[in-house]
Amino acid sequence: MEEALNKQVNAELYSSYLYLSMAAYCETQLMKGFAKWLRLQADEEREHAMKFFDYIIEAGGTVKLAKIEAPKTGWKSIGEVFDEVYEHEMKVTGLIGGLMDLAIKEKDYATRNFLGWFVKEQVEEEAHASEIQGKIKMLGDVVGHLFWLDHELGKRE
Ligand code: FEO
Repeated sequence: MEEALNKQVNAELYSSYLYLSMAAYCETQLMKGFAKWLRLQADEEREHAMKFFDYIIEAGGTVKLAKIEAPKTGWKSIGEVFDEVYEHEMKVTGLIGGLMDLAIKEKDYATRNFLGWFVKEQVEEEAHASEIQGKIKMLGDVVGHLFWLDHELGKRE
């Protein structure tokens, strides 16, 4: 379980890195609002990593940080970015599910309880990503049309 939780620290830090890379791409497209949303999402992913980090220590384990894979740096469009945000969140939901399966198998009740927060969080994460993806599709992924959504997402605090 400890090894799997350490892998999740890495996966959350990779998510943070990925969203930061997406934010950088949005900046090149002059989409400051999408970029701000993604920067804040990157911060949130780092907080997720730190929740795992703190839990491993609290549970008496050892944190072992590993190399973080480099994320891609280019996308075809803002639409493609958010298709990938949604796909990535579904992948993370799968990882959390895998951790939960392991905790159940090992009768690790404390970790099951800890992971409950992430199960709930992933429902929100997927819903937010899916909503933005859906709105981009409705707007037709056309730069001019996306400025309204860019403005809306820029309001995220
Ligand atoms: Fe840490 Fe977006 O899941």
